[in-house]
Amino acid sequence: MAQSTLERPPGPTGLPLLGNSLPFMRDPLAALEQWASEYGDITYLQFPGRPTYVLTHPDHIEQVLVTENSTFTTGDLRRDAFSGVEDESLSVSEGRTWQRQRQQLQPGFYREQITTYAETMVTDAEQTVEGWTVGETVDIVREMSQLTLAILAKTLFNHNVREDQSIVRAAVDALSQQTDYSQLSTVVPKWVPTPANRRFQRATNDLHSLIENLIRERRRTNEDGNDLLSILIGTDREGTELSETELRDNIIGLLLAGHETTALALTYTWYLLSKNPDVRRKLRAELAAVLDGATPTVDQLSDLEYTGQILTESLRLYPPIWGTGREPVTDVTIDGYTVPEGMTITIPQWVVHHDKRFYDDPDEFRPERWSDERDAERPEFAYFPFGGGPRRCIGEQFALVEMKLVLATIAQRVSLGLVSDAPLNVTASITTRPTDLIEMVVEKESVVE
Ligand code: HEM
Repeated sequence: MAQSTLERPPGPTGLPLLGNSLPFMRDPLAALEQWASEYGDITYLQFPGRPTYVLTHPDHIEQVLVTENSTFTTGDLRRDAFSGVEDESLSVSEGRTWQRQRQQLQPGFYREQITTYAETMVTDAEQTVEGWTVGETVDIVREMSQLTLAILAKTLFNHNVREDQSIVRAAVDALSQQTDYSQLSTVVPKWVPTPANRRFQRATNDLHSLIENLIRERRRTNEDGNDLLSILIGTDREGTELSETELRDNIIGLLLAGHETTALALTYTWYLLSKNPDVRRKLRAELAAVLDGATPTVDQLSDLEYTGQILTESLRLYPPIWGTGREPVTDVTIDGYTVPEGMTITIPQWVVHHDKRFYDDPDEFRPERWSDERDAERPEFAYFPFGGGPRRCIGEQFALVEMKLVLATIAQRVSLGLVSDAPLNVTASITTRPTDLIEMVVEKESVVE
């Protein structure tokens, strides 16, 4: 049926003033799934002061992220979330500034450069598993966060972060709290001196000082750390300058964008493996056949095919970024509806990745579904854990290499069993976070059964 371009898309009726906030605050991901199943591919939601259009069809997602990407900015939600922390970073910049920054950061993520990071990834994963004893219970989110943070700090600025963990962790926790949609504190402006806001300010100041000192020290010693910081300082010597603030904010931006996302992806993978012994067995067989007990190298990554499928499927079921935002800079037509300039558009990976139009038994963990021929039938934007178009995640290859190396290194030595049978509940802040602690017991695993 042809629709008038003035008509609003369908959506749930809201309460006066609060609109649809309450069900969203109660369980954001379940609410989005429910609304998409009731109202279809484009849904209109009412939040106080922020009407929101939710897109859940791959064609419309492609239109926004790729075909018409220049008509959209990433929007003020993202800018507000990072404000005061990384105001001049790639994640929040737009237009020419974004383009220049993306070009300057890109060499740090070339394939050859990522290859040089592989040794750090494996060594740090070994340190993590060697720090565990069989029978010990670990908080898996914390363990994976410490690991991914250590890897990033070494590869970004050749720093042993273990001593400064608490500064970075405090900043990450404060940031997550600021963007936890189930908390009322999220709607209080940052300048109001609430305890949460004061904590946030302190944490941000500490993180800024830490990174500023690192940059100052690097400039003073002029060392080549074979890391991203050297590349960035190198490019600014050639005259395509990143300002001091841009340099600092981008290092922070990469640290924040890269560590929690990857840690969550690994966490969900351990969780899924513990629930699926058949998959675990097949994984172990592949690791034995390809690695034969040795530590993995970059050259072996392409042979670890099933390991890759496990990660692909885990990123589908639990995309660490549950949704991507955009804002049109002019009125646009999507699916026959006019979306006015400045509206918030939300594109929820979480909902699309669980859509039964694109996946049989979408809630099942089935790595085999990623065998080539089946994959080809699916629309491209039925699966987009790293986004798409020009603003696609710059760290995608970094993350994929890291996850494979970490999984292969650790899964060869131990397996991890859940302490509790309680279902895994997740919620949405910037990332898709578990609502509760996930404790796992370290169990002995031999490579060959
Ligand atoms: C499993 C791990 C990761 C996931 C699921 C993930 C996902 C995403 C997504 C969905 C976006 C937004 C794309 C958009 O707005 O269209 C993004 C952007 C970004 N990611 Fe990642 N990411 C991961 C790891 C990393 C890593 C390791 C780094 C850096 C070391 C990184 C750095 C960034 C940056 C800087 C952006 C902003 C890019 C831009 O606006 O041009 N991410 N990521």
